[in-house]
Amino acid sequence: MTATSAPAKIILFGEHAVVHGQPAIAVPVSTLRATATVHDGDGSGGLRIRSIDLDQVLPVDLETELVDSALALTARLVLRRLDAIPPDALITLESTIPMASGLGSGAAVSAALARAVALAVGYDLPPDELNAIVFEIEKSYHGTPSGIDNTVIVYEQPVYFVRGAVEILPIARPFTLVVADTGEASLTRVAVGDVRRLVEREPARIRPILDAIGDLTQRARSAITGGNVTALGPLMTRNHELLRELTVSSDSLERLVAAAQTAGALGAKLSGGGRGGNMIALISPDTPQQAEAVRRALLAAGATRAFITSVEPVAH
Ligand code: PMV
Repeated sequence: MTATSAPAKIILFGEHAVVHGQPAIAVPVSTLRATATVHDGDGSGGLRIRSIDLDQVLPVDLETELVDSALALTARLVLRRLDAIPPDALITLESTIPMASGLGSGAAVSAALARAVALAVGYDLPPDELNAIVFEIEKSYHGTPSGIDNTVIVYEQPVYFVRGAVEILPIARPFTLVVADTGEASLTRVAVGDVRRLVEREPARIRPILDAIGDLTQRARSAITGGNVTALGPLMTRNHELLRELTVSSDSLERLVAAAQTAGALGAKLSGGGRGGNMIALISPDTPQQAEAVRRALLAAGATRAFITSVEPVAH
């Protein structure tokens, strides 16, 4: 029995603008994970995937071309890339990452499963190959993803990402975030499509907003690598205002961002595709005990879930 896993992720700066060539910053959340475990098959031959969360068992064959399920598609992509036939195995999948909320649950499940399928045929997928496979899956489900989600999840390191180029971001000083869920599921693909149409219709108004997001993401990179955590707060709040201008905020996100600020957060913003999903709030390193007060304020303001997490350098 072999188990592999992949973490959740949070986008700190630059979502949406990253789709249009600007930089973005994302970090893994290693405490929330998708896990894939390879068990010996029952001798009947063939590969089966059992998703515990979806309460589903899927047989995998190489003939189907249909994008019938992200799970079967992931397994097929790995087997085809390795030129392997389905092994006699059962792979079980479990995840502690909330689904459809911008924490990367889909990409993490794909990453864990792809690693497990490769291991089941005796191959340890290197990160670059794994990243390419998970990006393929993301594309089949999200249209035109930037690639930041699969990258941060596969490398499990903080990343500064510009389409096609990844830089591992050294965290000079750990910092604390509260992550809260609006409880409203939202399709990233739809929000990304709407922003694209906005850029096409009103380039003179929208391009400068994307540039401004890129500019503050670069300033956030300097603050993170320089250990200037306090400077990140206003940058986050400004990023949120610019995302609102891109039409990807929502009433519930506005309510949660305001509640976090009132409760003493240094800054707050939506995280990921927006129009629902999650938001993040930055806690001052001088008053770490404030994290619990902010978490409670977010729950009182209607968050369906809120947790405290620390962004730290990941040792590998
Ligand atoms: O997958 P989400 O909802 O965390 O959002 C991904 C970030 C976007 O910039 C909105 C899309 C992308 O592909 O980068």
